Amino acid sequence: MKKRDSWGSRIGVIMAVAGSAVGLGNFLRFPVQAASNGGGAFMIPYFLSLFLLGIPLMWIEWTLGRYGGGFEHGTAPGVFHTMWEKNTFIKYFGVIGIFGPLVIFIYYTYIESWTLAYSFFAFTGKYAQASDQASMQGFLKGFQGLEQNQFFPTPGASYIFFLITFIANIWVIYYGIKGGIEKLCNIAMPLLFIFGLIITIRVLTLGAPDPARPAWNLTNGLGFLWNPDFRALKDAKVWLAAAGQIFFTLSVGIGVILTYASYLSKGDDVVLSGLSAVSTNELAEVILGGSIVIPAAFIFFGPDQIQAIARGGAFNLGFVTMPLIFNKIIFGVFFGGIWFLLLFLAGITSSVSLAQPAVAFLEDEFDMPRPKTVLIFAIATFILCQPAIFLLGRGVVDELDFWGGTFCLVLFATIEVILFAWVFGMDRAWKEIHHGADMEVPAVYRFIIKYITPAFLLVILGFWLYQEGLPTILMKKVARENTLYVLGARCLLIAIFCVLAILVKMAWDKKKIKT
Ligand code: ALA
Repeated sequence: MKKRDSWGSRIGVIMAVAGSAVGLGNFLRFPVQAASNGGGAFMIPYFLSLFLLGIPLMWIEWTLGRYGGGFEHGTAPGVFHTMWEKNTFIKYFGVIGIFGPLVIFIYYTYIESWTLAYSFFAFTGKYAQASDQASMQGFLKGFQGLEQNQFFPTPGASYIFFLITFIANIWVIYYGIKGGIEKLCNIAMPLLFIFGLIITIRVLTLGAPDPARPAWNLTNGLGFLWNPDFRALKDAKVWLAAAGQIFFTLSVGIGVILTYASYLSKGDDVVLSGLSAVSTNELAEVILGGSIVIPAAFIFFGPDQIQAIARGGAFNLGFVTMPLIFNKIIFGVFFGGIWFLLLFLAGITSSVSLAQPAVAFLEDEFDMPRPKTVLIFAIATFILCQPAIFLLGRGVVDELDFWGGTFCLVLFATIEVILFAWVFGMDRAWKEIHHGADMEVPAVYRFIIKYITPAFLLVILGFWLYQEGLPTILMKKVARENTLYVLGARCLLIAIFCVLAILVKMAWDKKKIKT
């Protein structure tokens, strides 16, 4: 058995976990969620979810990952099996921890490549040719290859940027944990914060740029996002949205933190490091993410259009509204360029983490050398990315995002916390969390981890099944013309899951692993 990779420094691992967490979700998804779910009032379920789900799950995943790493398992099948040795089936539940990140990687890399492209378009003045919402929409569609127009007379632009982004990801993964991911995050994360700070300061000093419309100002822009509408708290949808945002933004319940933590040493602290990663993410989300897109959109488009903009979703805001805003700002070429570069850095530090569980699984459980695992991963994901690229307008990405990026997160987190608190046992779990810890976890978290977090998760799952389960399974919300494509995406998802489950069986059958 070869020696497993490891982190080079403590700050390196914190940067990498924070890099996985800080992503497109912080800068685009969060402000849209907050603005459309009660504004400032959204922060009540948001912070409750952070303290009752996010932070406990972050500690659980760091602890389980480090524990599994001690047995040379870097992914959930092996980790779950070492926690519950007598149960021969539990390893198949662990497949979700490889399946989820793999599915997200398939479409996330493509969207990440748009941010690189738009940074290029900003610096070269290409999107400056579009001057209103309709033409900027046309620009985006032309770029995506969904239509041919004056901006993009031939398709293929997005594919070139996808190839560059895909190769960059594979290149980082090839150099491994210390030589690739840690190095990338050590450079990308400080840069991302510098860019974020520059753009935040720019937005916060915009004032009211149009003298004819003094009410279109910063204070009202911040007010639109943050003024609380407490009536929203009566709506269960708002609570679900807050919990979903916490999962997505912290990258918990995906399986990636488990894998990252498996490269820690037995005596490494997980309590303070986990908390530092959460704090870094929240700083990027609430302070930077909450100060940029919505206030800027309000200042330039006013109170009437902002409602429609917020309802239009994160992509519209990011790739239509924001370029239009940069077209109107002095030095907009520079600000637009670094804004999209910031998004690209946030994206790539997340996507390499999504790739790592699949790579670690092949390395650990099949004892394969890294070049071979990375080659297999690159070929498989390159093929799997194609439906997401070519069937973009057909509901395929939404389908992958729902099962891989939403449902599996809640399911995986529920399994993890029950295993940790109830099977592994709270006494052992508490001891394991505190191994080498630099600070004590507040005692109340013993109760929270054992009762509140699993109950909260089961309520979310139950509520979803009751409200949305059947209509989702029966594709009630899918447009008629997309039904076949969505069905195809489901078959693909089932096939990926089955292949992974068969690989787990093969690995265990060969008894190449230590259990
Ligand atoms: N946590 C990552 C994000 O926020 C996936 O985008």
